[in-house]
Amino acid sequence: MNIGIDKLGFYTSHLYVEMAKLAKAREVDPNKYLIGIGQEKMAVIPPTQDAVTLAANAAASIITKEDMEKIDLVIVATESGVDNSKSVAAYVSRLLGLRKDIRVLELKQACYAATAGLQLAKGHIALHPDKKALVIGADIARYGLKTAGEPTQGGGAVAMLVANDPQILALQDDSVYYADDIMDFWRPLAATEALVDGKYSAGIYLDFFAKVFARYQQETGLTANDFKALLFHLPYTKQGLKALRVAIASLDPTKQAQLLAEFEASKQYSKVTGNLYTGSLYLSLLSLLENSTSLCPGDRLGLFSYGSGAQAEFYSGILQPKFKEALGDHTKLLAHRKEVDVLEYEKIFESNLKHESDRELDITSDPAQFVLAGVKENKRQYIKQ
Ligand code: COA
Repeated sequence: MNIGIDKLGFYTSHLYVEMAKLAKAREVDPNKYLIGIGQEKMAVIPPTQDAVTLAANAAASIITKEDMEKIDLVIVATESGVDNSKSVAAYVSRLLGLRKDIRVLELKQACYAATAGLQLAKGHIALHPDKKALVIGADIARYGLKTAGEPTQGGGAVAMLVANDPQILALQDDSVYYADDIMDFWRPLAATEALVDGKYSAGIYLDFFAKVFARYQQETGLTANDFKALLFHLPYTKQGLKALRVAIASLDPTKQAQLLAEFEASKQYSKVTGNLYTGSLYLSLLSLLENSTSLCPGDRLGLFSYGSGAQAEFYSGILQPKFKEALGDHTKLLAHRKEVDVLEYEKIFESNLKHESDRELDITSDPAQFVLAGVKENKRQYIKQ
């Protein structure tokens, strides 16, 4: 059976801040953010967007009426959940107008959970090949103003339709995983910003990558030479580059240059959006598919998923014959965003909806299809515009 990603959608807010300007405001050399961290722009998420609306906006961009008839599983992976009980997927399925005879749930394991969702969806489609599953990674990365993590914030969602005989990428049965109880990044229940031991986290990420990639090669007999591209979770693009350098260290210079060129294509969207947490690896995939000019059907792509806390997985996918026809062009979505200055970004950051029983939000300046209009009697009010 050939199961995998049939469609890929992406949504981020209409606002961004320039990293060079943020660096100036923080009295830091801009090259630290632009080169040292590898980020050029950062999505600024207004209070009218949250994990629910980001997820719904990403999914609405890909699903058709025909898909809606077949979707019977909705998984939303997030670490920016809006409720301790009710899943983001429950809201999203209603906003999208999906059928009621379906399963909906939310998954959490930091930035890794969308990969778990994808693998669970693959199992579901193996049992029900005539159905489709919607898997979405939706998050807002928040570390706090003037913190070390600030330049690695961002937000958005990636939606994936999983189906039998997919148009884009067939997921292979070759996953290798590794888990341990690690305190590298966490967010206590009442906190709206993550706590992170940044350098420790970066080290654990590389350590877990080395472990799963070595075991993957032992178990499959494949090496880095067998991949057209290696894709990484990108909390910031420099982190993925560091892992890629580990993977290609022993390759010949031509293959090294080829994998570096594909990595360049895969980081284009993250570089101007920032960290998407759960969606980040799949934004790298989308960026590669839409920006690389050398991909061919049959090419093998390697995907490294990492979620602090910590869980890692490496697996591969094979590009399908008509993958190009199933793609959009998200460079336009990103190019048409509006720049906000650092003061405005700070104001928006502080106006994030806290735990409030009643508040009305001004939705007039948010052009998204789905928005959060406020909260009434502790119930979040979502609107389709
Ligand atoms: N020009 C070019 N590069 C520069 C520079 C300059 N003027 N100044 C600094 N740099 C480089 C540093 O050498 C370093 O590169 P390296 O990592 O290759 O050594 C990089 O910029 C970052 O500098 P550093 O001093 O380490 O930054 P920091 O202490 O402010 O922290 C992070 C950076 C990424 C650790 C921090 O932003 C963070 O914790 N982010 C969250 C991380 C995260 O998301 N973790 C969990 C998910 S996996």
